Amino acid sequence: MKILVIGGGGREHTLAWKLSQSPRVDQVFCAPGNAGTESCARNVEINPENIEGLLAFAQKEGIELTVVGPEAPLVGGIVDLFREKGLKIFGPTREAAALEGSKVFAKEFMSRNRIPVEEAMEKRVFGSAGDRVILEEILTGEEASYIGITDGKTVIPMASSQDHKAVFDGDRGPNTGGMGAYSPAPVMNEGLSARALAEAMEPVIRGMAAREGQKYQGALYAGLMIRGGEFWVLEYNCRFGDPETQPILFRLQSDLASLLLQAVEEDLKEAKVKWDPRPAVCVVLCSGGYPGGYAKGKEITGLEEAGQMEDVSVFHAGTRREGKKIVTAGGRVLGVTARGKDLRAAIDRAYQACARINFEGMRYRRDIGNKGLIRKAPMTKHQ
Ligand code: GLY
Repeated sequence: MKILVIGGGGREHTLAWKLSQSPRVDQVFCAPGNAGTESCARNVEINPENIEGLLAFAQKEGIELTVVGPEAPLVGGIVDLFREKGLKIFGPTREAAALEGSKVFAKEFMSRNRIPVEEAMEKRVFGSAGDRVILEEILTGEEASYIGITDGKTVIPMASSQDHKAVFDGDRGPNTGGMGAYSPAPVMNEGLSARALAEAMEPVIRGMAAREGQKYQGALYAGLMIRGGEFWVLEYNCRFGDPETQPILFRLQSDLASLLLQAVEEDLKEAKVKWDPRPAVCVVLCSGGYPGGYAKGKEITGLEEAGQMEDVSVFHAGTRREGKKIVTAGGRVLGVTARGKDLRAAIDRAYQACARINFEGMRYRRDIGNKGLIRKAPMTKHQ
């Protein structure tokens, strides 16, 4: 099978890496990919938002499954277009993707489908020329990411994970796309996982199919706030998380290509997913100045030394090849991902690998996974 992965970040490198391991997959293409995807896929110079260009490539190359990483092509209607042309593609349609693309739609949808946000919101919706804003109370607690794969009827939960959005240690400073993540997240204990599935995921699937007339297929990501054994949905995303995908797929033992194909073919009912019980941690190495302005084109050293370590994989995000060198090309540059017999060991190994890598201005958080060390919850069946 030939697979096309759309996007060029750490999530897409991880997807391409995992898909390329499938015995069912002959070749993976990545559009546009990065310097890391070159090792498991063939990069194709097409912008993820150029959906006509992606369609032409998929038709010419005989792509049998397309997997969409970022939100923009989904909101731009790539799934609608590919399906119209009879091509298999993993992701929600344009209307279903509005769950992420339009926060107003998401809040109204959650409220219609009785998904727990009532306490999270001040019910003030301002209407002005198509530009509506919802104000939310600032909720305190611990965040977790709950991600599932769905065929529109069944949701297969991925392992739990926790992102670190603030740029500095101790969750200080401005928010970023994510400075690191680990899986499983002990804050998602068995009871909460079961409730998140029943109260935050399945109502979306049912609601989309029945009330909105839009079957939701693809990855569904609920950003949860957890406090005192309760949870609130902060947001929905219509895609896999970045960097959550890195530790999650690093632990996935099942065949990802089969799972995604089953989702597209509405055949997830009997799907079984197996996880490596060992925790995984991803530390994001970013360019100095990120999430503000930063320099690009800095040579990265130590990639081989880090990547050769046992139970370590260095997923690329903002990188590109320049002759024999690999240089920085974005704010989030690399996701150094490691497994260990327990969370402590996974954290230590990830940071040992980070210490082998260098580029001018490189910085990273030193406390990824620490929140999980404080809780020593047992594993659950969803982890
Ligand atoms: N890590 C946050 C996100 O993917 O939206």
